[in-house]
Amino acid sequence: MSALLSVRNLSVEFSTYGQVNKVLHGVSLDVPERSQIALVGESGSGKSVTMKAIMGLLRQPPATISSGEIFYDGRDLLTLAPRERLKLRGTEMSMVFQDPMSSLNPVFTIADQMRTILKYADRRLGRARSRAARMQRVHEVLAQVRMRDPERVAKSYPIMLSGGMRQRVLIAMALLSEPRLLIADEPGTALDVTTQAQILKLLKDLVEERGLALLMITHNLGVVRETSSYVYVMNKGVVVEEGATAQIFDAPKDDYTKALIAAVPRLTGGTRFGSKVVAA
Ligand SMILES: Nc1ncnc2c1ncn2[C@@H]1O[C@H](COP(=O)(O)OP(=O)(O)OP(=O)(O)O)[C@@H](O)[C@H]1O
Ligand SMILES: [Mg+2]
Repeated sequence: MSALLSVRNLSVEFSTYGQVNKVLHGVSLDVPERSQIALVGESGSGKSVTMKAIMGLLRQPPATISSGEIFYDGRDLLTLAPRERLKLRGTEMSMVFQDPMSSLNPVFTIADQMRTILKYADRRLGRARSRAARMQRVHEVLAQVRMRDPERVAKSYPIMLSGGMRQRVLIAMALLSEPRLLIADEPGTALDVTTQAQILKLLKDLVEERGLALLMITHNLGVVRETSSYVYVMNKGVVVEEGATAQIFDAPKDDYTKALIAAVPRLTGGTRFGSKVVAA
């Protein structure tokens, strides 16, 4: 069976002031239905550009997709009519953003913001829902992300919530229109490690409970280990290695992957830099 999301040989370049900068060189990856897949790589390796290309968020220009296909549920998103493509974004394909403070509007309540998202998603799908039904859905989804008092949270302004709660609101926003695929770009990186761990656990539980597919984008291999069963390692716009998460950790083949693993901090003292893992 073909994957729910399949990126094939994707190349992207940016033209700025007449200079062409190739940032993705033939990237291929698969996200099967109900799978938890990670895309890992250091800063600037092209993870967010990949995500934006998938979601149709790359501004062209300055970006150009010079080759490739992105299949979602068997249809190539790059040749799909703009109207059809728009129907998928924020509905079947949804995103969890990393920075709650810049993704939430400080002057509207959580309920206002969530109802607006739902309204536009419904409109795109040609679905009618009453105001009351929308509000009910907002409360329902806030409860799904384990908010103890969804009605109070709904009435709150972002500033009234903790960082962890704000990140959970962003997850709730992504779930509003019952997506099949969630793409999370560095979720929780703005949080302390304990709260981030709780957010990752929540995300994983939700994805499993609801049978969603997850593409987790991160620079952190610790996050990969917690959330994903299969991983693509990206370096300078190239997928340099892929495999089952356990296998990548136990027996990395690529030097870059080895270096990434060596750089994961350990609670039991230092990193593994300089150990045989790197030297091998
Ligand atoms: N709008 C743009 N114009 C020009 N170059 C860009 C633009 N967006 C991204 N790039 C370049 O594309 C490359 C990949 O960037 P990308 O944002 O995908 O990295 P990333 O892997 O998500 O990094 P991080 O972990 O820091 O989020 C970088 O070299 C970046 O400078
Ligand atoms: Mg990024």
